[in-house]
Formats: sequence, C-alpha cells, structure tokens
Amino acid sequence: MAFQSCSVGHLHRLEVPLLFRHLGIRQCTNKLPRFFLKMTKNSPANLLITGASGRTGSLALKKAATFPHLFSPRGLARSKEKIRTLFDESYTFSFGSILDEEVLRKALDNCQKLLILTSAVPIMTRNPDGTPKQPPEFVFKEGEEPEQIDWLGQKKQIDIAKECGVDHIVLVSSMGVTQADHPLNRLGNILTWKKKSEDYLRSCGIAFTIIHPGGLIDDAGGRRFLLVGHNDELLNSEHRTIPREDVADIALQSFLYEDAKYKSFDVVSAPCEKNEDLVRDWKSFFSNT
Ligand SMILES: NC(=O)c1ccc[n+]([C@@H]2O[C@H](COP(=O)([O-])OP(=O)(O)OC[C@H]3O[C@@H](n4cnc5c(N)ncnc54)[C@H](OP(=O)(O)O)[C@@H]3O)[C@@H](O)[C@H]2O)c1
Repeated sequence: MAFQSCSVGHLHRLEVPLLFRHLGIRQCTNKLPRFFLKMTKNSPANLLITGASGRTGSLALKKAATFPHLFSPRGLARSKEKIRTLFDESYTFSFGSILDEEVLRKALDNCQKLLILTSAVPIMTRNPDGTPKQPPEFVFKEGEEPEQIDWLGQKKQIDIAKECGVDHIVLVSSMGVTQADHPLNRLGNILTWKKKSEDYLRSCGIAFTIIHPGGLIDDAGGRRFLLVGHNDELLNSEHRTIPREDVADIALQSFLYEDAKYKSFDVVSAPCEKNEDLVRDWKSFFSNT
C-alpha cells in the first residue's frame, strides 16, 4: 500500500514543526501560536531508545529530542566514547549492556515508552594482511551472538520494561523473519532469533508495534513514498530498501497513534520524482498497517 498523502486536515502534534518548516517558519516550541500550543498540551513521555549509538538509534534519539513537547528521550549505549563522537552534551544517556538487568532497570526507571534498536553486530573477518576475505565472512564476538542480543537481550528489555511500567514498546526487527532459509540467517540465525523476540513481545501484555524494514540505506528521510506490507510479501517487490531516517520517523510516530498499537508490519520505500520533503499523513499511514 503506497503512502504519500499531504493532508493537513489530520495534522498531528509531531507534524506541527514539519508544517512550520514547510511554511518557511523556524521551529521554536516556546514561540508557537496559542492554537498550536493547545494541540501540544500533553506532557512529554519519558522514552528510552536502546541501540542509541547505532545508525538508526542515533537518528531516532536526535529526532525525538527535536520534539520536547512529545518526548523526554534518553539513550542507552555501551560506549561513552562512541556517544561523545555522535552527540553533544545536551542528550541524556545511560551506559551499559542490554544483557545487564541492573543497567536496564536504571535506564528504564520512570519510562513510559521503549524503542528497541539493538541488534547483534557482525564483524567482517580479514586475511593476515588486513584485506577482507573473499567471499566475505562474518563472525560475532563471543557472548554477543544473535541468540544473546536479538533474543535474550531483547527479552530482557521487554521483561524489565514491563516491570518498570512501560506502556508501549516499539521494536525495529527486519523483513525476512518469516523465511527460515533467508540468506541473513547464515549470520547466526539472526532472523530466527529476532522472530522469537517478536513473538515474546506480542504475548507480553504491553502495547507493541513491530516494524520490519527492508534493507536499510543512509539516504535522507522524508523524501520517498513508504510502502507497507505484511508477511514478507514485499520481498518480491521492485522496492526493498528504506532510509534509516524514515525508519526512525516511523518508530517515533508509532508512539503517537492508537492505530499503530498491536501491529506488526513490513515497510520499504520508493523514490519520489520531486525528491523534496513530504508532509506525511501518519494517521492514514497507520490505519493501513
Ligand atoms: N542493515 C539492514 O539492512 C537492516 C535491514 C532490516 C532491519 N535491520 C535492523 O534494524 C535495526 C537497526 O539497524 P542499524 O543498522 O541502524 O543498527 P546498528 O547500527 O547495527 O546498531 C546496533 C546497535 O545495537 C547496539 N548493541 C549491540 N549489542 C549491545 C549490547 N549488548 N548492549 C547495548 N547495546 C548493544 C550497538 O551498540 P554499539 O554501538 O556499542 O555496537 C548499536 O548501537 C537492527 O535491529 C537491524 O538488525 C537492519
């Protein structure tokens, strides 16, 4: 289902700054006219984003921070050094591994929302002279295999979120999880473990949104049509990629629409001829998921 509407009739609070940008007005929340302030009166939700040092996680945290009337975001990461290179000091972080329950308890304290963007990180093996092996080979650090990170680490995040009173979890998984023989499963059965955490999340009793993006690319977000599907049917389509920035957007918007709850969906993108910022009708997007 293609999604490309530009309706202002369904304008949501998160779209106010987008509309302002569209109209050429600089975003400045404390100077919004009374009409727009009325639309933003709810207090911001405490949101934890895990995998915040990752490529999608860092985009999601930066984006969430631009909507202080909606989110009071904090990141969980394991490397302070990496965070220093990615963020300035205005961002809030907890540090440690998702495999450590105490780290998770501290990070999730008083949070209402959790966005899971962690994943096992494959390492390319090299020849003794430093060149990548041909064909390329990948390994995982011991104890950080997909079974540990994409299953047990995600299960821990869900369990502790439940304990801390989180009311909505958004999980970014992957397209391909319905196919046991998918090539990505050659990487430590990563998709099989991701599916196991999805099933766990679906049965945990908290509102959830599970997003299955196609191949992630680093193109600018907000400029391509979004195509939604289910059960990996989009693997046969001509379009199978999506910018990380769009995935970050979809994940954050999921917290704002009732229609996003208790849903799992696939999403890819298709180029838009104009290659300019689209004002998205998220209400209609989620009603089609
Ligand atoms: N690549 C694709 O084409 C593709 C396609 C579809 C779906 N996906 C999925 O989409 C999601 C986002 O992908 P991405 O490429 O943006 O991710 P990424 O850059 O690989 O980020 C993974 C994040 O997980 C963190 N992490 C791993 N183990 C951890 C641990 N024990 N404790 C705390 N954090 C840990 C990493 O931390 P460090 O920075 O410290 O390593 C990193 O921040 C992932 O779930 C990925 O599998 C990817």
